[in-house]
Amino acid sequence: MTLPVEIAPSILNADWTRLAEQIRDAEAAGIDWISLDVMDGNFVPPITFGAQMASAVRSLTGLPIEAHLMVEHPEDHIEEFIEAGVNCVTIHIEATRHPHRLLQQISEAGVDAGITLNPGTPLTEIEAVLPICDRVQIMSVNPGWGGQRFIPESLQRITQARQLLDANGREHAHVAVDGGVNESTIAAIVEAGANWLVAGSAVYNDRESVADAVARLRRALASD
Ligand code: DX5
Repeated sequence: MTLPVEIAPSILNADWTRLAEQIRDAEAAGIDWISLDVMDGNFVPPITFGAQMASAVRSLTGLPIEAHLMVEHPEDHIEEFIEAGVNCVTIHIEATRHPHRLLQQISEAGVDAGITLNPGTPLTEIEAVLPICDRVQIMSVNPGWGGQRFIPESLQRITQARQLLDANGREHAHVAVDGGVNESTIAAIVEAGANWLVAGSAVYNDRESVADAVARLRRALASD
């Protein structure tokens, strides 16, 4: 099964003083999702925002929204993001003792359940939850910051994630990639098996408009 390639700008690198405009620009540029990088200052050093931001973004766009919870004890926060109206909640396998239960809880709420893992976490850690997840997100940078360099060893992890999902009857589940997705890495990332791409600084930067940035990514995909 070949899943369509979807691009999900992360607002982490957007200009938050004009967030409504930045989201509208991304929507007009033809992106597919909006990704929210939720950071608690514990699981990762920075602190970004909570469910109130999810509610605000929900009021600004009809696009599906993904909440990437880079937080300790995601079990304490899942409900508020679901209530805020997100369409996917992605939790870190490293952040909870009960990933299976939490992914069940997310799915039972009618929300896509995502599992993600840091670059240093073996893929074997997520094997037990593969049958109940709607996506596996490969972190291709160490989480916490935008604008980092893509970790090249992530490519083989992307392929492994696709193979593991297919082996578990989850051909419809996405392989997502987060970190260092840009015009020079996007083709290899998709070639490796990813179909759902978070892009922060490649979409929101001070070099070009959002429209031009998204077009650049799409061209890099098309030229492959
Ligand atoms: C890491 C963040 C970033 C962000 C994307 O914690 O999750 O990966 O979404 O940032 P870029 O696309 O600039 O690497």
